[in-house]
Amino acid sequence: MTLAVTTPPLVPFPASFEAAPPVHLTAVSRVIAPAILQREAQSLANAIAWRIGLELVVTESSDVTPGDIFFTLDTESDGSAEAYQIDTTEGYVAVTATTATGAFWAMQTVRQLLDHDADGWFVTGARITDSPRYTYRGVMLDVARHFFGVDDVKRYIDAMSAYKYNVLHLHLTDDQGWRLHSEAYPALTEKASGTSALGDQGGFYTAADYAEIVAYAASRHMTVVPEIDVPGHTHTVTVAYPEFTKETVIMDSVVEGAMLFGQALPVHGQPYVGWGVGFSSLKIDDPATDEFVSTIFREVAQATPGPFVHLGGDESLGTTEEDFAAFIALASRAVQATGKTAVAWHEAGKAPDLAPGTIGQYWGFLEPQPGYEDEARAFVEKGGSLVLSPADVSYLDMKPTADHPLGLVWAKGPTSVETAYTWEPTDIISGIAPEAIIGVEAPLWTESARTMADVFTLAFPRAAAVAEIAWSPQDGSERTWESFRTRVASHPSAWQAEGVTFHNSEEISWIPA
Ligand code: ACM
Repeated sequence: MTLAVTTPPLVPFPASFEAAPPVHLTAVSRVIAPAILQREAQSLANAIAWRIGLELVVTESSDVTPGDIFFTLDTESDGSAEAYQIDTTEGYVAVTATTATGAFWAMQTVRQLLDHDADGWFVTGARITDSPRYTYRGVMLDVARHFFGVDDVKRYIDAMSAYKYNVLHLHLTDDQGWRLHSEAYPALTEKASGTSALGDQGGFYTAADYAEIVAYAASRHMTVVPEIDVPGHTHTVTVAYPEFTKETVIMDSVVEGAMLFGQALPVHGQPYVGWGVGFSSLKIDDPATDEFVSTIFREVAQATPGPFVHLGGDESLGTTEEDFAAFIALASRAVQATGKTAVAWHEAGKAPDLAPGTIGQYWGFLEPQPGYEDEARAFVEKGGSLVLSPADVSYLDMKPTADHPLGLVWAKGPTSVETAYTWEPTDIISGIAPEAIIGVEAPLWTESARTMADVFTLAFPRAAAVAEIAWSPQDGSERTWESFRTRVASHPSAWQAEGVTFHNSEEISWIPA
């Protein structure tokens, strides 16, 4: 038998790949897995049925025969909990993983190995040994500027877990909407969730909705990181509980933005549907505000099984440095008091009393703006670590091309697919150990994204590019733009099967679905 000489279209590309004979799938092929991996096995069977119309039996029986897909749990391995192997040399698809998480990522790899020829559908032959470069591989969805309901978020989880992203950061609050119900402060959603940016319809998650999202994410091996953005980005609080807020500060930048986009200026106490930032702030050093902030973080932490709660901390442009420092000290400790690890945008690093161990999320450029590098480094100096979201390469809401109707340009946009692919996390913040970087996250802000079609069109294919930076080894032989653009070219068939829209970038010679 001749082996395929082409590189399979795997994204992110595995740590180690060798070609091997393919395994043809037939009506008698089965997916065999121990009880503990039945969910991953069933997910694979569902994906195969969806994609190729073949309904494979899922069973715990262990008498593997040629053409089967055979999952085994190897609890003896001391490698990464996310590691897995795939081997087709015995005539069946042998999948070995240390944990169900590894088996889930293996399942996503097998999906990408599905191909067909004149003899029908097969799993491309492979001997793969794989584990991620970074443990934190995130996407962020801004459900505050535009609200997206539970079913939409589930679709985002499905589309992103296919690329082995394991963190869903939900930006739950901003000037345009408060999207998570609070038992203690119900007016936040009663009064300040009805609208979205551009005057579109708003919405919010009940406790049950949020629990459903968290559970769905967990079933796809993704952790939800909820963000309550304070002390800025809190215009909604002026609508619901003005007693906790400072007066609105309309800076020149807010006026200029409003004129540029033809939008109204924010008015204290009234819903805001524009795109301006930096004009709102909570009151600092007021016991009532402290109680508000601590209670909100306690509620969010209780609803969140994952280890992280994000406190925002970005663009508090109307707050003095002293007030900001006092507030961040309080908010980071309020999160810590819940037993969670606090995460904050990098500006919080300038607060001398930031809680030790807080994780910083860097959103400056690849060439850091003045002061940003020091702010990011401060998290590491205080025993924390960093997640990198350089805005000029990883912000999925930048326009993909200058003339594209969706997206913004402020972060050196438009951002091409090649730009989103061609960067190295360890080259940005000097003076830190590589291990201080725990991962990479691709945020998608939704000022201009009104529908899930808009969201997916902005996200893909750039989310696939950033996924490879987060997962694949830095020095891997396929970790090149030429290889990536060739591999991702065949992904539209899977996207179209899942109803995922994408930007039909001219940088890629797409293979029609
Ligand atoms: C941000 O883009 N303001 C984090």
